Amino acid sequence: MNSIPDVMSAVEIPTWGDADLLVLHERAMPSYGPHEVLVRIDAVGVNPVDFKVRGGNYSAAFGENFPMVLGRDFAGQVLAVGAEVSAWKLGDDVLGTLRMAPRLGCYATHIVVSDTAMAMRPAGLDATRAAGLPVAGLTAWQALVEMAGVVAGQRILVQAAAGGVGHLVVQLAKFLGAHVTATASPSNHDFLRELGADEVIDYNTTRFEDVVSDLDAVIDCVGGDVLDRSLHVLKPGGIAVTMAARPDNELAESLGVRVALIFVRPDAVQLQGLADMVADGRLVVHVAQTFPLAEAKQAHLNQETGHVRGKVVLIP
Ligand SMILES: NC(=O)c1ccc[n+]([C@@H]2O[C@H](COP(=O)([O-])OP(=O)(O)OC[C@H]3O[C@@H](n4cnc5c(N)ncnc54)[C@H](OP(=O)(O)O)[C@@H]3O)[C@@H](O)[C@H]2O)c1
Repeated sequence: MNSIPDVMSAVEIPTWGDADLLVLHERAMPSYGPHEVLVRIDAVGVNPVDFKVRGGNYSAAFGENFPMVLGRDFAGQVLAVGAEVSAWKLGDDVLGTLRMAPRLGCYATHIVVSDTAMAMRPAGLDATRAAGLPVAGLTAWQALVEMAGVVAGQRILVQAAAGGVGHLVVQLAKFLGAHVTATASPSNHDFLRELGADEVIDYNTTRFEDVVSDLDAVIDCVGGDVLDRSLHVLKPGGIAVTMAARPDNELAESLGVRVALIFVRPDAVQLQGLADMVADGRLVVHVAQTFPLAEAKQAHLNQETGHVRGKVVLIP
């Protein structure tokens, strides 16, 4: 039988700032409402947004609610359910993601979440890879399907294809039947070919606009100059979907193409579909590094290099 401890551990930040602020503390076990679920967390997915929040980029959305616990993505097991919860029972293996604001909280041993925030973790998907899936997988799916409308036979370019989002974009675009060109450093080229990329470009030595043109879509995980240059390789009416920068709509209009910025949203049905794909081998979540929860600082420093292959995951 699962027993609920009186205290839990969480990595807290006392204010906005650098990675040194990430320290593990004990805190009281939270209570849960009638439509909420108490989850024991088995693995936590790290996303670039975590260090952006930590640094204060979204301080207006969060307010000064310190100490604050970061983290959007989790995999774990249901420890208790509220009186009105019918979808979940004790012992269910789950994965989920939280809305951006006003409250995060996955860098912890336990969390209380809404009963609509989760998907069931299938038997073929371990908790570590499950925790790496939600934000990256949902962003990839929503960018490709909802925003770019990618369909079979189209030609697309994925910028930063070896990253957390990019490596899933490559695979899901192939699943949709697209021809995929991917940008990455040479050390990631074999990795991307194994995931299905048709062509790879070393962005350090080759300007992508010298080798691709007339594309249906670009999925951009980099932003800045890379995003602006991406607009030049689209065919008329083509679309660039970025997740990393505010797009230049005037430039896009002048070139006769479209550009859009995605804000990923939690979607339990989509997440279940993605989890099932990983469980049956149609989608690979590559976890490059795992760290104990207490080493969240090192996880952030590694993520902030901008050169992680796939995902970083914390283990409570
Ligand atoms: N708006 C949203 O809803 C949303 C959702 C998810 C993510 N995001 C944002 O999207 C961005 C990507 O997220 P992520 O999790 O995929 O990041 P990530 O895992 O940190 O990306 C790392 C990858 O970026 C590659 N890279 C770095 N610079 C590059 C360049 N100039 N050209 C091509 N590849 C480059 C690296 O490849 P090499 O090592 O081969 O160089 C590395 O594999 C972040 O800014 C994140 O905050 C936004």
